[in-house]
Amino acid sequence: MQLISAVVFSAVVSGCFGQNETFPTWFLFGAATAAYQIEGGWNAGDKGESMWDRLLHSTNDITLDSSNADVACDSYHLWKRDIEVAKELGLNVYRFSISWPRILPSGFPNQVSEDGKKYYSNLIDGLLEKGIQPVVTMYHWDLPQSLQDLGGWANPLIATWFGDYARVLYNLFGDRVKYWITLNEPLAICDGGYNKMAAPYLDDMKIGGYLCNKHVLLAHAAAYRVYEKEFQSLYYGKLSMANVFFWFKPEKTTDEEATKLAIQMWEGRYAHPIYSESGGWPPELEKILAENSKKEGYPYPRLPPFTPEEIEFVKGTYDFYALNHYTTRLVRKVDPEKAGSWPYYGCKEIGVDFVNHPTWKTAVIDWFAIYPEGLREQLLWINNTYGVDQVMITENGYPDLNDDLFDVQRMTYIKTMLQQVFLAINDGIHVMGYTVWSMMDNFEWVTGYKTKYGLYAVDFLSPNLTRTPRESARFYSSVTKGRRIPKYRVLVDYEDV
Ligand code: NOJ
Repeated sequence: MQLISAVVFSAVVSGCFGQNETFPTWFLFGAATAAYQIEGGWNAGDKGESMWDRLLHSTNDITLDSSNADVACDSYHLWKRDIEVAKELGLNVYRFSISWPRILPSGFPNQVSEDGKKYYSNLIDGLLEKGIQPVVTMYHWDLPQSLQDLGGWANPLIATWFGDYARVLYNLFGDRVKYWITLNEPLAICDGGYNKMAAPYLDDMKIGGYLCNKHVLLAHAAAYRVYEKEFQSLYYGKLSMANVFFWFKPEKTTDEEATKLAIQMWEGRYAHPIYSESGGWPPELEKILAENSKKEGYPYPRLPPFTPEEIEFVKGTYDFYALNHYTTRLVRKVDPEKAGSWPYYGCKEIGVDFVNHPTWKTAVIDWFAIYPEGLREQLLWINNTYGVDQVMITENGYPDLNDDLFDVQRMTYIKTMLQQVFLAINDGIHVMGYTVWSMMDNFEWVTGYKTKYGLYAVDFLSPNLTRTPRESARFYSSVTKGRRIPKYRVLVDYEDV
């Protein structure tokens, strides 16, 4: 069985693309994780409760396997092993996130946790000792429950609170961290969190979700402005917000306008205010959403208007574009009444459905179509639309449902995505780096531990949560070592055949 896989693999993976092309010396190879998904230690020391802790302690019904991330990969205790893993992979950068309630147990800077400080400081120092640069996400969805109790992302004060939290992080770690991601995927924070797909697990997209839209942007900008004003001249770091996870193409030429709107709905809603010359909401989308809320009798537009000062405050708050990219879908224009509900509420708002191209393969997860060219197309769109030429791919990875160490599909996916990155660099786009999601299997939100994204498998049943490299890890280490996509041969263990 394994031998058959190996034969298929050499046909698919060795291919003929650019065996001699070398990635530029400045290109950063990385892998990524996030605090709630790996750390465990949910109440270690004086850590505060996060909204994910609260949600998953209150019910077993949300995750597919009734799990939570109280222990997860136990990186809170096993961080030294994680650094070894990063080193084994030959990473230039390791992207991880900081848990807000681990640093600020009350959510506010009245008390800074010594345990939290020590944990992240050790991790950062340990990485730097091995020559690995940290890329630090300040918020990857684990809001302090204390702030959720005050309305969370629907409360406008959260922008100030986030700016204050960011200042604590810059003071503690800014001397060593040169790449900061303020928020991870605002789309998931708002459209997921207010559409019963993620904590706080509310069904309130028409008001709460759109309030969240405005406040995540103001929060991101607050963190950026604090850095710009108080830290940039000391530390010379670079900041961005990680946006979106898919790309869209029209199914037919008659779907072109709907596709443009879909791109605005899912990407532009969070990018236009930051990257466009005019700032503010994408105008066409703002208009349609305002009409929708009027039709439903609301006296307020869906997207809360920005004041002119707010538009200026948010505009230009980036040093590069941080892109999470996973998949591409075809857009089909449909009657809004009949539109489906994936991804999130937006389909009904603008009257679109997403379909898969008949020739694209899918991963085990049905929404996950594989079309690597979509990554390069999205990079070109970002470049053409906003004139941004510095992009970091902060997530890209492949889901599976089995524990297999011989993960040919993941390897092929990463290889073909890297080919597109290489082509985009040749197009003249400065793709600064690429971080695979994920360095190791972890808690995959509502699918619990069932979905695996790891270059390393984690044995969640073993007492020390053993991390074992998959074939994709061997492949990726040879990419990072040679700084090019290798002509890769799989060694078959004949005893297993
Ligand atoms: C995006 C999220 O940032 C990450 O937390 C998640 O695990 C991956 N996508 C895979 O779904």
